[in-house]
Amino acid sequence: MNEVLQEKKIIDVEQIRSQFPILNRKVNGQPLVYLDNAATTQKPQAVLDAIQKYYSEINANIHRGVHTLSQEATDAYEYSRKTIADFINAKSSEIIFTRGTTESINLVASCFGKKFVNAGDEILVTEMEHHSNIVPWQLMCEERKAVLKVIPVTDSGELMLDELTKLLSSKTKLLALTHVSNTLGTVNDVKEIISLAHKNGTAILIDGAQAIAHTQVDVQELDCDFYCFSGHKMYGPTGIGILFGKEKFLNEFPPYQGGGGMIKEVSFAKTTYADSPMKFEAGTPNIEGGIVLGEAVKWMKNVGVKNIAEHEHELLHYAIAQLKTIDGVRIIGEAKNHASAVSFLVGTNHPYDTGVILDKLGIAVRTGHHCNQPLMKRFNIPGTVRASFAVYNANEEVDKLIEGVKRAKKMLS
Ligand code: ALA
Repeated sequence: MNEVLQEKKIIDVEQIRSQFPILNRKVNGQPLVYLDNAATTQKPQAVLDAIQKYYSEINANIHRGVHTLSQEATDAYEYSRKTIADFINAKSSEIIFTRGTTESINLVASCFGKKFVNAGDEILVTEMEHHSNIVPWQLMCEERKAVLKVIPVTDSGELMLDELTKLLSSKTKLLALTHVSNTLGTVNDVKEIISLAHKNGTAILIDGAQAIAHTQVDVQELDCDFYCFSGHKMYGPTGIGILFGKEKFLNEFPPYQGGGGMIKEVSFAKTTYADSPMKFEAGTPNIEGGIVLGEAVKWMKNVGVKNIAEHEHELLHYAIAQLKTIDGVRIIGEAKNHASAVSFLVGTNHPYDTGVILDKLGIAVRTGHHCNQPLMKRFNIPGTVRASFAVYNANEEVDKLIEGVKRAKKMLS
């Protein structure tokens, strides 16, 4: 590599990799090549230490006790909420801890539906949505007697924006779409789409599960009404996620679940509710997850989200270029703006068979429909092989993937 290129490199992959103990393990006797980051990311030592520290030093229930441990745990939990709010340029009162993106979307579908959706109203989603951004809306539409409409996708895996404009009407109460497609890697122009929706008086929810670890998100700049993401896809723990919601909606929403911690006053005659975010956090939450997610955010900020994005962009484009050199490989999704994941098929080989052979070589990819059955139908395919990248992946791992795909192709022919 020449000196100019070397100077440009901001990510020291070896130094980053040394912070992830799991990357030292072998799978089927081979060094692990972990390329299933869209499903979940591995965790750096800082995050593992934070889990250990929480249970070793301050474990207690929060918002409930005057004793020292409870206060320390409460402070750490609320400090984490503030860290996450700052990360996406929101206010703490607009940040609700959930179990993950799925619960965040279900919360909005349920509360928004009860408050704002009536018979005959319409909800818009896109053909590239994950099931978690389809099914909650279907359930809500069924309950409210509303209609679900779908924005189609082009052959290259981009949204048909002219169709979106046609579908927006005075009946459209909310548009829910993904920031980055988990299967195609398409980066949607959410800023433009948010502006179109708002001009139509339509609220907008962005599923940021596949974007938050790969791009800097600023909810004020985007002007989205809701933004959802999961901790485990951004180097944090599973079972914890975030719903950002604009105050004007959260204040109007009814509670999502009833229980301890979400009330102002309870009597058998009438119960009054706490303000957001407590109104939406009934019961003992995932305290450890909430605190540790803040540590994961700090870790990402230290590495630099822009640096992470640049590094992954190089890996992705290197992988796509290399895959295209293999005869019979078909890339599914070639959007101009593409991030984090590449999906492909090898001739008529079933993705599952390719995945099993890659696993024997220590290479972890996801195969199947990726919770995108309508999208698979759109492309008339049973599924794909998907490689997805994180900041700790190296070019050499892409080379191993390419060798593995060639080997699988040979074995399956
Ligand atoms: N939504 C995750 C994926 O795309 C699980 O793999």
